[in-house]
Amino acid sequence: MTRQSTPQGSDTDTAVRCPVTGALAGEAPPPEPDGPTGRPLAWPVVGSTILYAADPPAFAVRAQRAHGTVVKLPMIPHNPTVQVTDPAAVRQILQGNADNYCRGAYYEAFRLFMGHGLLTLDDADWREHRKVVNPAFTPNAIAARAAETDAALADLTDRWAEHARTGRPFDLYDESMQLTCRVIGHALVGRDLSRDGGEFAGALSVALEAIFKEVGSLEKLVPSFIPTPYRRRVRRARHTLERVIAQAARDADEGSGGEVAALIRASDLPEDAFWSNLVTLMLAGVETTALALAWTLYETARHPEVRDRLEAETDQVCGVRPPTSADLDSLPYTGRAVDEALRLHPPVWQFPRQTIEDDVLAGRRVAAGTPVLISVYAAHRNPDQWDDPDTFDPDRFTTEASAERDRSAYVPFGGGRRQCIGKRMGLGLLHQAVATVHGRFRLTLVDETPRSGAYITLFPKDGIRVTAEERGR
Ligand code: HEM
Repeated sequence: MTRQSTPQGSDTDTAVRCPVTGALAGEAPPPEPDGPTGRPLAWPVVGSTILYAADPPAFAVRAQRAHGTVVKLPMIPHNPTVQVTDPAAVRQILQGNADNYCRGAYYEAFRLFMGHGLLTLDDADWREHRKVVNPAFTPNAIAARAAETDAALADLTDRWAEHARTGRPFDLYDESMQLTCRVIGHALVGRDLSRDGGEFAGALSVALEAIFKEVGSLEKLVPSFIPTPYRRRVRRARHTLERVIAQAARDADEGSGGEVAALIRASDLPEDAFWSNLVTLMLAGVETTALALAWTLYETARHPEVRDRLEAETDQVCGVRPPTSADLDSLPYTGRAVDEALRLHPPVWQFPRQTIEDDVLAGRRVAAGTPVLISVYAAHRNPDQWDDPDTFDPDRFTTEASAERDRSAYVPFGGGRRQCIGKRMGLGLLHQAVATVHGRFRLTLVDETPRSGAYITLFPKDGIRVTAEERGR
């Protein structure tokens, strides 16, 4: 605890406040200066900013375990920022009292690449945008694109068969990005966006890094006219995306582009909505889905008992043919493995809102205008909600087990009216891809513990290298 005066003066002038929660002594939960880990969660002047930056998801978990599920963090530049991981509070923000929450200060940074579109607009302006693109995300629309998914997975298995033959290690992250650049690229702009030697995939990663750093990284202290290597990378990424979007506009005008591009082009949305929404969908959909696939295969490779059940399920349902989208309902264990990987490694590991008026979350007052971060990562590892939270166990997601849990304890796709528009599309692709891989191959990790990094998404810093072996059924 530290001693500091409060802005109100009077009787709280000498009150003792926790540097992390801002709680007065005696307020629940009882503040512990360093938490059970004994490591500090805030430093003088810079607050939590530097400790957070070192490993943001781990910091989020430490803050939760030390100070509870609604935690006031002294962050620069948005001080305080309230981290929320309590399921009832998450529901209140996303559903019960959603009208009291706007996109807020953190989402401003997303405009750097995403302009004013699906993710960055507040609810009143957002509705029209969502209505325009919705038809491309219905079950029928997704089913109509199934042939492209099947073809992309067939090419993936051909590549992996060659890796298996040579015994050469390959990177699950790169492979997953190739798959999603192709399948999601097809839905959005009618092109296989993996066919440029990784330039588009690289541009997405740089853009996501730039958005994260836009909030408050040390990069911003370097005068803007200095072309640092980082800034050059960001500029190149923007040019790549501009090239892709310009091509998508030409294709749409000739009637040959992707479904989503055509819908936006034909709409009454403002001119800039074409860029904003396509770039938003690319940034929100392509890497997230690829990461989910890479992390799922990482976990199943580490858990032979899970892998055996996945293989048995796929063999029983599909025999030696590759799984199709029509098989997915008959592959429930595979779906649960994906769900569990999304719990432990949620690609969107946190997302922001901001209060419009005062609110009370899990018994704690949050003042008007306060940025709020829903930490998906820490909510998914909250020991009050999950037994043995760090363990990978797909059976947490049986129908019975799920029914016993608060639904808002698990929010990999957000919730309420702003729930991820690509949830069905992403989950379908993941489910089919995991079944396809386990039907045909066994993977062995080259590096047991890949280093993870976190900007907007939670990613493996050096990829996830594996070798493959044909199962030889
Ligand atoms: C495993 C894959 C995915 C994950 C984990 C994921 C996660 C999320 C999350 C957490 C949100 C909510 C953000 C918020 O409420 O502030 C969101 C929103 C969004 N996602 Fe996804 N997403 C995935 C796949 C996709 C795909 C495939 C697409 C489209 C191609 C997509 C497009 C979007 C868009 C446009 C939004 C904003 C929705 C709105 O506010 O109307 N996502 N996603």
